[in-house]
Amino acid sequence: MERSFLSEGKTAQPSSAVQTIPEKERMIHHPSSSLELEMPVEFLKSWITPVSHFFVRNHLEEPSISPGAEWHLTVAGEVKKPITLNLPHLAGMARHSITAVLECAGNGRAFYQPQTPGSPWGRGAVGNAHFSGPRLRDILLRAGLKATARHVMFRGLDQASGETPPFIRSIPIEKALDEDTLVATHMNDAPLTTHHGFPARALVPGWIGASWCKWLTEIRVLDKEFEGEFMREAYRVPCQPVPPGTLASAGNTRALTELSTKSIIAGPAPGATVKTGAVTIHGAAWTSDAEITAVDISTDAGVTWKAAELEGDPVRYAWRLWSYTWKDAEPGDHIIMSRAMDSRGRRQPPVATWNPGGYLYHAIDQITIHVRTQAEGAG
Ligand code: MTE
Repeated sequence: MERSFLSEGKTAQPSSAVQTIPEKERMIHHPSSSLELEMPVEFLKSWITPVSHFFVRNHLEEPSISPGAEWHLTVAGEVKKPITLNLPHLAGMARHSITAVLECAGNGRAFYQPQTPGSPWGRGAVGNAHFSGPRLRDILLRAGLKATARHVMFRGLDQASGETPPFIRSIPIEKALDEDTLVATHMNDAPLTTHHGFPARALVPGWIGASWCKWLTEIRVLDKEFEGEFMREAYRVPCQPVPPGTLASAGNTRALTELSTKSIIAGPAPGATVKTGAVTIHGAAWTSDAEITAVDISTDAGVTWKAAELEGDPVRYAWRLWSYTWKDAEPGDHIIMSRAMDSRGRRQPPVATWNPGGYLYHAIDQITIHVRTQAEGAG
């Protein structure tokens, strides 16, 4: 079950449910041995998600690196000249900026039926932020790649603990050399906070959050995909759909890479009661390496659809806010739906393919709201 932790403890919550999370405000706290904070979806009001509301997904205890402390990033493996960099080295390199969606592969897991193990993230394990730092390719080229370079592995400073192995994963060399893949040192124009990977994290735009290694301390170029547990066991889906509730047979799975095309409804809140007349429905939509071209809204449980208005210009890797004014909302209960489409023709499906890890939930979003009758309105 989810519990809400309020950083300022202003409302009447049992005291055991009130906990201060530094730099975070009113997040949904998924109880776990490590920090897992979800953004309540009603906070999704701006194109850039403030750090105070940005979700956090840690597998292990968070390392604490104080500003000014010694920190090094080694680059080794299939390179011609291993190098060690510090923050002034990174600051001295050409800086690249990108606004990108960071989404946990488990976002929406709570909506899969049957349920799967893992934290029951709802809609809020996602955010859109402005990141900057040197390109990973500039760092790799400084070390010089050998012809055997196939994958790039990231290791963070968080330590393996108990049964949880170290969080180490790798990405293919092509994605590592992409001009938009960064070693980010800044988020929303300020140095990364500890929760988000200070002093440096991988930024792999359009790919699942698990690729975005935080608290980077080692980059190792490999001649094949890294084989640790977080690559071999976790963040994989069956190559062919399996009947819901079954387990994928070993070896018949693939590592998750790209995000799916998806929209979510941020308001009204699920179950909300609203006045008759005009109701504004709003939310965000995103995809992997393409642009959101349309978001359609249904106010009659999917029978008819109308185009929502997309805000601003499309920005590759960023989300697009959208809104729709439902002018003639009649009293009663209504099922509201949203579905997104991208410039590669990918459309949010009515049903997401069930998988044992509960990953990449991206079915058409759906909420129920209640429109008040005149009598209810008077009361
Ligand atoms: N990097 C390290 N070193 N350790 C982690 O546990 N979690 C990953 C990724 N990077 C993780 C990590 C996962 S699963 C996600 S979804 C994102 O960080 C979440 O990033 P955020 O906490 O900054 O939102």
